[in-house]
Amino acid sequence: MTVSLLIVDDDSATVFGFSRYLSNMGLSVQTASTLQEADTILLSRNLDIILLDLTLPDGNGLDWIPKIKKKNPDTTIVIITGDNEINSAVEAMRRGADHYLTKPVNLEALNAYLSKNIELRHLRQKDEAQRRTAKKRDPYFGTSPAMKTIFEHASLAADNNSVVLVQGETGTGKGVLARWIHERGPRASEPFVEVNCASLRGELLGSELFGHVKGAFTSAVQDRQGLIEVANGGTLFLDEIGDMDVSIQSQFLKAIEEKTYRRLGETRERTSDFRLICATNHDLSLEVEEGRFRTDLYYRICVFPIDMPALQDRYEDLPGLIHGLLDGMCSVIPDIAEDVVLLLKKYHWPGNVRELRNMLERAVILSQGETLRCAHFPGLETSRKAPLPPSATGTLEDVENMHLQKTLSECNGDTKTASRVLGISRASLYRKLSKTKIHA
Ligand SMILES: Nc1ncnc2c1ncn2[C@@H]1O[C@H](COP(=O)(O)OP(=O)(O)OP(=O)(O)O)[C@@H](O)[C@H]1O
Ligand SMILES: [Mg+2]
Repeated sequence: MTVSLLIVDDDSATVFGFSRYLSNMGLSVQTASTLQEADTILLSRNLDIILLDLTLPDGNGLDWIPKIKKKNPDTTIVIITGDNEINSAVEAMRRGADHYLTKPVNLEALNAYLSKNIELRHLRQKDEAQRRTAKKRDPYFGTSPAMKTIFEHASLAADNNSVVLVQGETGTGKGVLARWIHERGPRASEPFVEVNCASLRGELLGSELFGHVKGAFTSAVQDRQGLIEVANGGTLFLDEIGDMDVSIQSQFLKAIEEKTYRRLGETRERTSDFRLICATNHDLSLEVEEGRFRTDLYYRICVFPIDMPALQDRYEDLPGLIHGLLDGMCSVIPDIAEDVVLLLKKYHWPGNVRELRNMLERAVILSQGETLRCAHFPGLETSRKAPLPPSATGTLEDVENMHLQKTLSECNGDTKTASRVLGISRASLYRKLSKTKIHA
């Protein structure tokens, strides 16, 4: 869809230059040299972007800003001011303008800002269209006591603005729950912005979250908005927060507490009103104890913790989950042989709902439209039989690994029992297993 832009300026040379430049960018451009003219255009059509000079022959552009925002809060207002009018620019931002540029306007800076703005506009439109057309399907919560409590807590969380910390093993549905909380809340029509803290280190994560200005570091070739800014009005979902680089943690704490942040390389403070949801599959209290996670940040994000149970702790939800997952992947839900659920209940599901979904997907393919049978879940029965390890010799690490393997084997691969026998949390056990490449 073509983006509509209105230039309001009484300087005909500026209007001419901007108009040509912006039309070449593919925008549908209109111009006005007085507030009255601009107001007539505002009433007659929906404007995506307005470039607004403040000093106009028939009034001050400042007074017009609330009217624009009232008509359509999504209209982006970019103020064009003289060098000596910075105070007016600040006042304009206070009244609802989105950005300001000083004269003489650097066209590259204008282009960078508008390109990003247009990209975001398209993303939002796409998201909105998908939301409207997608078959609305709530995740299946289940009827187990643990999941009933989670449903109640998540519903309460959706209605308010507190920071939510979703904890649980991999694949338990932390991300699914975070999105559900967003979609059930008052910010549902605003962006849900997801960042995986484990995939980006140090400066890169900082730049992704806070944005940067041109030249802030070697590869920063132009100004860039951070995701905190993109999440303004919506929800910022920080996945794997336990892996957030310590160097970023203090800056991020400030962004949560004061809702202010600075782009990398910039001194100006910006504000963003985002709702924060975090998720982790680490034992965060252990991360704090071991000095990898800041205590103050931990307490700041631990306002509303929700612990997702492992699938093996809610076997009663298996039938409902199977039904819900199959409904999501097939146009017609296939029949399921009686002994399939029994077989699935015997398995310990280290990958939780994700693993269940993947196994069901494979079974659907293998069954070729027929009834799902145990034979369509190859490997399930053998997966619990780990060979007994030889007696422990070698380094301390070797001995620990062998003890881990032996305990797991004696517990039939049940990580919950094994972690209890070993006297460590399940998260610690998974961490040790991932280091040793032993499979539960
Ligand atoms: N309640 C649910 N209903 C339907 N599908 C679910 C549900 N919970 C999880 N899933 C499925 O399991 C997959 C994994 O879920 P999700 O990514 O939310 O897990 P996670 O806990 O965030 O895992 P990780 O820690 O690895 O990021 C999802 O893609 C989704 O398909
Ligand atoms: Mg996740």
